[in-house]
Amino acid sequence: MQPIYLDYNASTPVDPAVVAAMRPFLEGHYGNPSSGHWAATTAKAALETARGQVAVLLGCRDDEVVFTSGGSEANNLALKGAFFALRDKGDHIVTTPIEHPAIIEPCRFLEGLGARVTYLPVDGTGRVDPDDVRKAITPRTVLVSIMHANNEVGTIQPIEDCVRIAREHKVLFHTDAAQSVGKIATDVNALGIDLMSIAGHKVYAPKGVGALFVRRGASIEPLLHGAGHESGRRAGTESALLAVALGKACELARDLSSMHRVRALRDRFWQGLQQQFGDGVVLNGHSTHRLPNTLNVSFVGRIGAEILARLDAVAASTGSACHSGRIELSPVLQAMGIAPHVGMGAIRFSLGRATTGDEIDAALERLTNVLALAG
Ligand SMILES: Cc1ncc(COP(=O)(O)O)c(C=O)c1O
Repeated sequence: MQPIYLDYNASTPVDPAVVAAMRPFLEGHYGNPSSGHWAATTAKAALETARGQVAVLLGCRDDEVVFTSGGSEANNLALKGAFFALRDKGDHIVTTPIEHPAIIEPCRFLEGLGARVTYLPVDGTGRVDPDDVRKAITPRTVLVSIMHANNEVGTIQPIEDCVRIAREHKVLFHTDAAQSVGKIATDVNALGIDLMSIAGHKVYAPKGVGALFVRRGASIEPLLHGAGHESGRRAGTESALLAVALGKACELARDLSSMHRVRALRDRFWQGLQQQFGDGVVLNGHSTHRLPNTLNVSFVGRIGAEILARLDAVAASTGSACHSGRIELSPVLQAMGIAPHVGMGAIRFSLGRATTGDEIDAALERLTNVLALAG
């Protein structure tokens, strides 16, 4: 049976053009970008070209891009870096309960150090009300961190409206754009944000590389201290290999035209599911303010993990996890107030550049067979 990959929000394959860009740095160009001799020249130039490619995608200046090991590190650097740098100003962070663990866990860590964290409510589609941002900000607030688009349900937040409120109060704004880069526009000035995280392996670069946009003038304390790499914001010899990969991936991600096709396939999948299962299937997330590749659906009264286990050779994710023998809803679906008998049946299908119509039709057929067998 032909394997079908519908889990692009978990990770993407490395684009062949990214592989080609990396090859010379695997086979040669081994110099340390910080050295002062001939062997450094190519690596240093490639590192800075890559920084420029990331900057063009995000609409920022080159010196506002800090390379990291991925989305998690970028989020940790944003949250802890801002908190430590602004300790004299305050100790309060505003975020949401639907963030990725790479935001939630640093918040918990900082709470252990005395931070106060407000988790804003979200509505049934997973959206924050900007008015709640206004109500949450206090004179002690140092950072608001709200994800651009959610990894599980794909809901896109009203970031510009939230930013406007944070700006009125002169509070830094961070957004985790790990899922939105390459799927929707992510221009830091259009959004107005001060800090933005991106992750290479969600955008057709390899795992182990990401970046944090840090607006000029925004103060963050580094997490890694050492030599003055990345303008003193992240110590450790830079990997030209991985930077080149992220740079190339960002160059490719500027062209969002493939998302029209992806969106059409995603909608065809949803229509097919509705035709097959009627009221037995519901959409999780916002109907329009949603990533074009993401389809999170609940098979009402079923268990998503069980369906997936029987679904031969289809890679997708569930919205529930087994904890101590009990199946529990994901924190995202819980925060959205999804009823357990609906949420337990959640499956996230996420499409990508290589997804074909044949794959969507085959996935639909396999799902229909599994659910018909299950009765
Ligand atoms: C929204 C979001 N933020 C952060 C991350 C973490 O990124 P990385 O895997 O590069 O550490 C992920 C990965 O799943 C994500 O979906």
